[in-house]
Amino acid sequence: MCGIVAYIGEKSAYPIIIEGLKKMEYRGYDSAGIALLNGSIEVFKKKGKVHDLEKFIAEEESKLDGTSGMGHTRWATHGAPNDINAHPHTSGNGEIVLIHNGIIENYSTLKNALLDLGHTFESETDTEVLVHLIEEIQKQYELPIEAAVKKSLEKVVGAYAIVVMDKKNPDLIIGARNSSPLVFGLGENEFFLASDASPIIKYTNKVIYLEDEDVITIHRDGKYNITNLQNKRTNHEIKELDLKLEELEKGGYDHFMLKEIFQQPDTIQQSMNGRINSAEGWAVLGGMSQHIKRISKSNRIILMACGTSWHSALIGEYLFEEIARIPTEVEYASEFRYRNPIVKEDDFIIALSQSGETADTLAAIEIAKEKDAFVYGIVNVVGSSIARLTDSGSYIHAGPEIGVASTKAFTGQVSILTLMALYLGHERGKISEGEYRELLAELEVIPSKVKRILELDDQIKYIAGEIKNASNALYLGRGYNFPVALEGALKLKEISYIHAEGYPAAEMKHGPIALIDMYMPVIVIATNQSAHEKIASNIQEVKARKGIVIAIITEEDTKIREMADFFIEIPSTKEPLTPLLSVIPLQLLAYHIALMRGCDVDQPRNLAKSVTVE
Ligand code: G6P
Repeated sequence: MCGIVAYIGEKSAYPIIIEGLKKMEYRGYDSAGIALLNGSIEVFKKKGKVHDLEKFIAEEESKLDGTSGMGHTRWATHGAPNDINAHPHTSGNGEIVLIHNGIIENYSTLKNALLDLGHTFESETDTEVLVHLIEEIQKQYELPIEAAVKKSLEKVVGAYAIVVMDKKNPDLIIGARNSSPLVFGLGENEFFLASDASPIIKYTNKVIYLEDEDVITIHRDGKYNITNLQNKRTNHEIKELDLKLEELEKGGYDHFMLKEIFQQPDTIQQSMNGRINSAEGWAVLGGMSQHIKRISKSNRIILMACGTSWHSALIGEYLFEEIARIPTEVEYASEFRYRNPIVKEDDFIIALSQSGETADTLAAIEIAKEKDAFVYGIVNVVGSSIARLTDSGSYIHAGPEIGVASTKAFTGQVSILTLMALYLGHERGKISEGEYRELLAELEVIPSKVKRILELDDQIKYIAGEIKNASNALYLGRGYNFPVALEGALKLKEISYIHAEGYPAAEMKHGPIALIDMYMPVIVIATNQSAHEKIASNIQEVKARKGIVIAIITEEDTKIREMADFFIEIPSTKEPLTPLLSVIPLQLLAYHIALMRGCDVDQPRNLAKSVTVE
């Protein structure tokens, strides 16, 4: 949700910033802009993607000097995506520039006050208000720029990660954060600020994750200072990033999404490494074992998440109730945070997030913590806000996920949830030793089964070609495959813009059946051993109305194979592990359909990878 990057050092800033923006682009791509400080302030901004900005700038080579600068790639909140609303924004006197990720909630009050003082605004953004406010406060109180930034931020309600540069202070950049991420990179005679570490890693692996209300001033000579808004110095540990540059590249694939789908045998394996041993009969998660007494006595589990992570959470509900026998509820974080939820001390709260930065999930965690709950995080991005805010947790170790549509993070989360349910079920004596060991052994072979499904890519591509022109699609599943149906439908709508709905197969007759005709593809996830007959009947109901059935079946399921118009055979597994396999063909199906429809698979319209605003 907006990516920001800034540089100060000895090198030319422009190439570093433009490359950095490309790495940040998954966070938003409505418009992009940069500002360079080179005696004057040069600002370039353009609607569209970073390559549109690059093309626009190509004619301005003479203005690209400067060893400090900032860049922004936008996901619009206030004001349409156009050149004027693009960041950076400039103060009225043209001396201060600012980029921002977040939302200034009281911007209209601030704007009215500034209008009364004679300020005029070019854009419709909340961000332009902030840079004018800094200018006004600096003028009124005759403050140095750092102090003016702090005083301005005291007046701001909302979320922000900002970078500020001042023409009069060419050897200084200022950053600040509140509820939106900001990472400080410390290189050799050069420094970086960015929304995440991806633009920084090429130059240094030393970073500091800024905390809420931190303000950092970075001087070209190498001094930096982090204080809070009340001017108290705050000390932060310098962390070493364990991230390789090649993890941020497509690695020979046409799209990040395809790479990430194909990485899943490895990423699922990584999520389990050191956490499971079927021969010895154990599954343990370090983050849980420290608190296992408390966790295993929980009377209720509440899972909180957004988007695809919410679908993983739904699978968690099935797993925890079946294997660990703990009543489990699943919450949209955005709903939980605003409805005065009942949270008890013996509840076990689990927050799931790929990015670890989703604003609603962060806020929901804060509410749960205010109520003294123990909150566990299942997160992909190491060092992210959710990873730091939760009491304990497990990383899924999927590596950077860059395609906006989440794939490998989903299977990583489901893998962790399965391990957690097994660990808890065993600890609580709710699963027989035999069943426990069988599930552990089966979990260990899941990566090789995923590999076999990926070999069906050409067949899935063929089916994609048959249904690519549909306007609607229905995804049906029962039990563990119901959340998979939701996830399959989400993948399709996110990247191909085909309207798709996921439904519990039995619920179809209470509404969606009215939509079925000869143009409606119905993707039925029919791998369940239990309820196999029932799902076969659901397929008959679709066929009777001339719907096109694409069935995901287990190998040798001749019965459903004969009923379906198209089928995709996947290896069989123990039922609680089914989602780890059945979701794979749905990811590939969505990918191929989107590609055939000419859609931008990695950067679908209107979406962003990391939603750091409400
Ligand atoms: C956005 C992304 C989704 C993601 C959701 C939750 O909507 O486009 O792919 O599932 O946010 O993100 P999180 O990082 O919290 O899992």
